[in-house]
Amino acid sequence: MPINEEKLNQLMGKFVADLGATLHAGMAVIGDSLGLYKTMREAGPLTSLELAERTGTHERYVREWLNSQAAGGYVEYDAAAGRYWLSEEQAFVLADEKSPAYLPGGFLVAVSSLRAVPQITERFRTGKGLGWHEHDHGLFRGTELFFRPNYAANLITSWIPSLEGVEAKLKKGARVADVGCGLGASTILMAQAYPNSTFVGYDYHEKSVEIARQRANDAGVSNRVTFEVARAKDYPGMGYDFVAFFDCLHDMGDPIGAAAHVRQSLAPDGTWMIVDPFAGDKVEDNLNPIGRIFYSVSTLVCAPASLAQEVGLALGAQAGEARMREVATSGGFKHFRRAAETPFNLVFEAKP
Ligand SMILES: C[S@@+](CC[C@H](N)C(=O)[O-])C[C@H]1O[C@@H](n2cnc3c(N)ncnc32)[C@H](O)[C@@H]1O
Repeated sequence: MPINEEKLNQLMGKFVADLGATLHAGMAVIGDSLGLYKTMREAGPLTSLELAERTGTHERYVREWLNSQAAGGYVEYDAAAGRYWLSEEQAFVLADEKSPAYLPGGFLVAVSSLRAVPQITERFRTGKGLGWHEHDHGLFRGTELFFRPNYAANLITSWIPSLEGVEAKLKKGARVADVGCGLGASTILMAQAYPNSTFVGYDYHEKSVEIARQRANDAGVSNRVTFEVARAKDYPGMGYDFVAFFDCLHDMGDPIGAAAHVRQSLAPDGTWMIVDPFAGDKVEDNLNPIGRIFYSVSTLVCAPASLAQEVGLALGAQAGEARMREVATSGGFKHFRRAAETPFNLVFEAKP
């Protein structure tokens, strides 16, 4: 078959954009960790020398970085004045950690998970897993940075109110477990919003639990929030009013075992909330830019994390509602429904 030149050119155009985006991920991580974006937001238009002086960095590096950012549309450039600045929109997504659209964490997740490419290439041959804890430390911090703004924008105002009777219980005073809590961003947000309730975050990853404790201290909520090392299948305690899993059920080796444990740890009228990546039930539903991100992270992180644990069900980050329902009902839950959604997440309510 002859090559269709138009299709070939389209593919080459896609490649150029993708290669630039791949390298941009590293540029964004540098800009975030050195405070380059934040300084630009505070200072307004700057030369490369001024930005270097303000951030204690070397001008030659900063100039090259600025030009990569300007070429990518992440920074504005005035050629006549030789100055660079962030538009309101660029500042909103790159320099404001409180913004619901703060993006640098996503690039840190990408760069950190890509460090595992050699191990994952090998896992394709052996079929073995790679535990969450075996990844570069940047993945844990990146996940917190990337997910927290999303939780801050949706959890208290939309997701919890979408569940039957949960908000009222939390306001009055409830016992809550946040399982697979990572660095505790969701646990702390809930603790700040519901001062009459008590919260415990569980995660099997010791290092994450240590940082979560520090975060709770810093936020001044450690009197009502504790963090413990425990697995989803055997965390302690009974009679929880509310158990939440944020973006972690699909990472677990035995999600059905976890569901069964949640079921027996809940009060008879308790609620299990599962937040998972947005996905349709069929592969063809997910062949879009967001599905591409999730399937790729899933290949590097989520599926291997599950394969590294007992059972190794490996739901993947695009499991979809039907699979999640199956997991919850196989674990003994009678009631299951989609309670809310965003472009990135599905939120499910399960009740005994
Ligand atoms: C993608 S991270 C999400 C972290 C956090 N919930 C958040 O949304 O920021 C997945 C988390 O699940 C935890 N995890 C994986 N398997 C687990 C298991 N079997 N029991 C408890 N935690 C687990 C990992 O250690 C990791 O912190």
